[in-house]
Amino acid sequence: MGDRSRKAIALAEKYGAHNYHPLPVVITRAKGPFVWDAEGKRFYDFLAAYSALNQGHNHPRIVAAARKQLGKVALTSRAFHNELLGPFLERLCALTGQDRALLMNSGTEAVETAIKAMRLWGYQRKGVGEDQAEILVCANNFHGRTTTIVGFSSDPASSTGFGPATPGFRVIAYGDADALKSAIGRNTVGFLFEPIQGEAGVVIPPKGYLKAVRRFCSMYNVLMCADEIQTGLGRTGRMFACDHEGVKPDLLVLGKALSGGLYPISALVGEEEVMSLFTPGTHGSTFGGNPLACAIGLAALDVIRGEDLARKSAKVGAVLLARLKTLHHPALKEARGRGLMLALEFTSRVRPLVEDLMRRGLLAKDTHENTIRLAPPLVISEPQAEAAFRLIRDAVAAFKG
Ligand SMILES: Cc1ncc(COP(=O)(O)O)c(C=O)c1O
Repeated sequence: MGDRSRKAIALAEKYGAHNYHPLPVVITRAKGPFVWDAEGKRFYDFLAAYSALNQGHNHPRIVAAARKQLGKVALTSRAFHNELLGPFLERLCALTGQDRALLMNSGTEAVETAIKAMRLWGYQRKGVGEDQAEILVCANNFHGRTTTIVGFSSDPASSTGFGPATPGFRVIAYGDADALKSAIGRNTVGFLFEPIQGEAGVVIPPKGYLKAVRRFCSMYNVLMCADEIQTGLGRTGRMFACDHEGVKPDLLVLGKALSGGLYPISALVGEEEVMSLFTPGTHGSTFGGNPLACAIGLAALDVIRGEDLARKSAKVGAVLLARLKTLHHPALKEARGRGLMLALEFTSRVRPLVEDLMRRGLLAKDTHENTIRLAPPLVISEPQAEAAFRLIRDAVAAFKG
């Protein structure tokens, strides 16, 4: 590591809270599926900012849209109208087949918005008694970092020390539709889940799960709320992971790649019956829905559609998964994934492997100690994915795990 990188890391370590354990690499430049460190070394980015960079780094069309809007107006607050809010909301609704959208900034905020929406609906439409609403969530979920959300996390690292937990949530097994069916009670207002669990290590539920969830939610009058913050917008080889089973949730939470990799944008998109319950004063955000965000979000969606990134993700992802499945290592348990949301699960700690990959020129991140998530920007070409695979193959061969 060079002096420039060492200095940057030392300063962040000294003055920052240590709430992350980053790889020792200082990124100073990026383009498409690549990043460069302070010393000019190039890396494949196989984390893609936890799937916020589906369109690749610094996509010229998205950067141009941001620049253009910066020259006009960036922030109005929702106290006033702006010309781009309507078009962006309309586009989101057309893309998802939903009626209305509410814009926020981080994914966590959009999940909080969904929780509020489900509770509002429970009290005003389902007739649940005051403060009695219950939302079902899954074991090993990841929905964000607020006190309410970590309160129903089953990961002690996320939740320990941050109690008391907000009441009104119940954790059930993931991927088990019967567990959902038997957990639904009189006060159940919603089921919040990830169609594929990302942070848990790319956990894919059994075939038919999404369809069964849809069926039980409709049958028992419970809102089906899919958190597609990580799986959405092409990542899994379809526009949304729910599309793999042809299922439409009542509420859809989006974030990450809605940003085009430039600027935090998130949204709750849903049906009229729920979304119409928000009235002035019930929810808001100073930055949510600002004109800069709308300009960037529109361009981000244009690129996903225009470059057919969902189809590309399916195609390149299938090739890469087939290659990963050829890997043999005594500690390798499984290669799995859908589209370009892939993972290698080992029986041992993978941090040394992740560090070796970094030395070889590929950045990926361990999740839950034993799993490496492999999720490059969807703009990665097949030859680039092949070249990246060779780095992975060589690092796995050298892994002492
Ligand atoms: C499924 C899911 N929900 C919510 C979040 C939280 O999003 P953010 O970090 O933008 O708040 C994440 C982030 O990793 C996520 O993967």
